[in-house]
Amino acid sequence: MDQRTSSFSDPKMKILAASVAAVAAAGLVACAGGPTRGADTTGIDWNKVPANKLVLFYPGKSSYEWLRDPAAHKGAASETARGDSCVSCHDDAKEEQRQGAKILSGKHPLEPIALPGKPGHVDVNIQAAYDDKNVYLRYQWKGSNDIEYPYYRFDGKEWKTYGAPRLDKPVQEGKQPAIYEARMSFMLDDGKVPMFKEQGCWLTCHEGERDLNPATKEDVAANAAMKAYKKSDVRKYLPASRSNPSDWRTGKLPDELAKIKAAGGFVDLVQWRAHRSNPVGGADDGYVLEWRNFDAGKNHFASNMNAATKQPNFMFDAARFGARAVSADQVRTKDNFLIKGANAVPFDPNAGWKAGDMLPRYVLQPADATGSAADNKAYGIWKDGMWTVVLVRPLNLANPDDKALKPGGVYSVGFALHDDNITTRGHYVSYTKTLGIGAKADIVAVKLP
Ligand code: HEC
Repeated sequence: MDQRTSSFSDPKMKILAASVAAVAAAGLVACAGGPTRGADTTGIDWNKVPANKLVLFYPGKSSYEWLRDPAAHKGAASETARGDSCVSCHDDAKEEQRQGAKILSGKHPLEPIALPGKPGHVDVNIQAAYDDKNVYLRYQWKGSNDIEYPYYRFDGKEWKTYGAPRLDKPVQEGKQPAIYEARMSFMLDDGKVPMFKEQGCWLTCHEGERDLNPATKEDVAANAAMKAYKKSDVRKYLPASRSNPSDWRTGKLPDELAKIKAAGGFVDLVQWRAHRSNPVGGADDGYVLEWRNFDAGKNHFASNMNAATKQPNFMFDAARFGARAVSADQVRTKDNFLIKGANAVPFDPNAGWKAGDMLPRYVLQPADATGSAADNKAYGIWKDGMWTVVLVRPLNLANPDDKALKPGGVYSVGFALHDDNITTRGHYVSYTKTLGIGAKADIVAVKLP
């Protein structure tokens, strides 16, 4: 019997999702040591699939603009501007290790925040395979079991954010604990985005984005293009979406962007998330063009804040979770995932809330995830200090916001890992690699028997 995932409607997968949700709902799974949810059910014998060792390093503030600034990227700005590949120069055997350590030395302008003890690089083992229906990527890395996401905490009057990513000011000032989910992501192009093959993810990383000298809310609100995009901050964008790629303010208007997108001038962005997708067996599906967009349809997760009432939308079902809320001392001691259809019930404002009660900022919605946004599945387990994540992506996707993977195809991919309660520039990234679906490349997805 073929145990592999066929599609979202596969009944076996639904059963898995339900049992995973049930385990999470019961709050049975301990945090340290034991396997936490998401066992790989693909049935693949990974011992027979070749392993690729990748080194991901800490890039700090090495934005598109920094790389093209002769006073900063000394001796390399014009070469980078004309499109030379990063690894045409950064080609030493231990280049990523050297660069990560240098940027995190505490003395480098690319990382002004001191992060003592944080390693400059992480080794990630990647295996790839495919069959008639899907491509399977298996990642393994040693990292922390970051399954938590910031909460809303009731202070007696209002629900306020509790916890934040490590680089955020309130954490740096010691006012909030560092809380953020682990993530393993890739950006992928099929040759249609100029320079992606040579310079990968760095094409999307610009001044003005969060944690890169962010644009002010007022600046963004005053900008016609950002208004047209209906966005209140600047996020990853591709050079082609701007008339001046080094200036987020010069965004092209939606009709022009639609033409670029229709011609395939966007990159796919697939993110596995330890809190917001893994507990329900998913990995989200997005793309980058003028912003870091999600694909059409519905994600595995939704905000748990009602903008009108300024109160959460959902709370825990006490009968199934053991309590209707979480307290600060329970963070990282158990699975605090709020999951529709498993342990979430509509928020009751009259439930007798006490100061210190906390609810997750996002509610997971396995049954609502639909469309192109819900194309990917994933199973992740953290055990003995190591994550093992298996990502399943269908072949031949025909959505206008996806890059279709096809047998025989070779793609350019950049990987990113968020570890240690961090987001934005605090991730580890790879130089561009090629991924071949049964074709010669840096990482070859082998055909399964
Ligand atoms: C023409 C050669 C060349 C190219 C192409 C090039 N670099 Fe560099 N890069 C250098 C040199 C040389 C330095 C070191 C400058 C110094 O010591 O101050 C450097 C420094 C850096 C640093 C700071 C850490 C360090 O190693 O000193 C980063 C990060 C970096 N480059 C990333 C990139 C990325 C990303 C690309 C591709 C988009 C790229 N470089 C393309 C030559 C190059």
